[in-house]
Amino acid sequence: MQKRPLATNNVPLETRIYQAGAVLAAATRVVCLTGAGVSAESGIATFRDAKSGFWAKFNPEQLASQAGFAADGGLVWRWYMERLRAVEQAQPNLGHLALAQLARRIADFTLVTQNVDDLHERAGHDHVLHLHGHLHRFRCNLCNDEHRLEMHERNQSEPPRCARCGDRVRPDVVWFGEMMPSRIWDAAWRATQRCQVMLVVGTSAVVYPASQLPLAAAQQGATVIDINPECTPISEMAAFFLQGASGQILPRLMAAVDQATGIA
Ligand code: OAD
Repeated sequence: MQKRPLATNNVPLETRIYQAGAVLAAATRVVCLTGAGVSAESGIATFRDAKSGFWAKFNPEQLASQAGFAADGGLVWRWYMERLRAVEQAQPNLGHLALAQLARRIADFTLVTQNVDDLHERAGHDHVLHLHGHLHRFRCNLCNDEHRLEMHERNQSEPPRCARCGDRVRPDVVWFGEMMPSRIWDAAWRATQRCQVMLVVGTSAVVYPASQLPLAAAQQGATVIDINPECTPISEMAAFFLQGASGQILPRLMAAVDQATGIA
């Protein structure tokens, strides 16, 4: 596993941002893995924040599992509709926008997200690998048929019914105990195996298997850059831990990339 260079610990943040920017500017194959933290400055709650995180207030088993849906599908439906409304009212923040700008500079840039919101797309990414699915897509819980959400269904207290088989409709997200779509995971894994830089933004990196991507990248020799206000298992092993909010750090990192490529 890659060890953080000792010097990094004593180097001021601004210098580390410029060093990381130079590494990114020289790279042609980059993977970025994002988590809930990248959307925090858009007003979307994270999962594990001790006060405002979803899992501090709600039980994941009740809201994000097949057992929870079976026990109280209405509760699950109303929670996801509330989250959908929050995302629709939110706007991409400076971090999302800087990432979209970075993607345009790198020949082979793969964006992998654990987020179910569409803020990366709205910031300008046309191809995002959503490991945990999409908040704004729906399918039948039984036959998997896609379901187009009608306006009136948003305010229903119970999940709508599938037009094909009559079973209950659910959000097209990955719940605990469910498999990720293998096509998405395989694409993320392949990109990780060939990347020169892995940029990790706003994830606690505790959910398997997404948490394995930065480790796999480091093992095959990629430089890992981690952006997070808090120290995580990834910050510990990253070549560059850029501590802070992504809406503040990413634009500075982008400026450093510009400077290293002679654009600024
Ligand atoms: P978490 O809530 O576990 O972690 C969010 C991370 O974002 C934490 O490490 C925070 O320190 C960091 N953070 C907070 N504000 C930030 C900011 N402004 N800028 C950058 N980082 C910030 O969310 P995830 O790691 O995304 O899965 O969680 C992974 C998965 O666990 C989710 O996709 C979800 C959840 O259970 C499913 O629902 C399947």
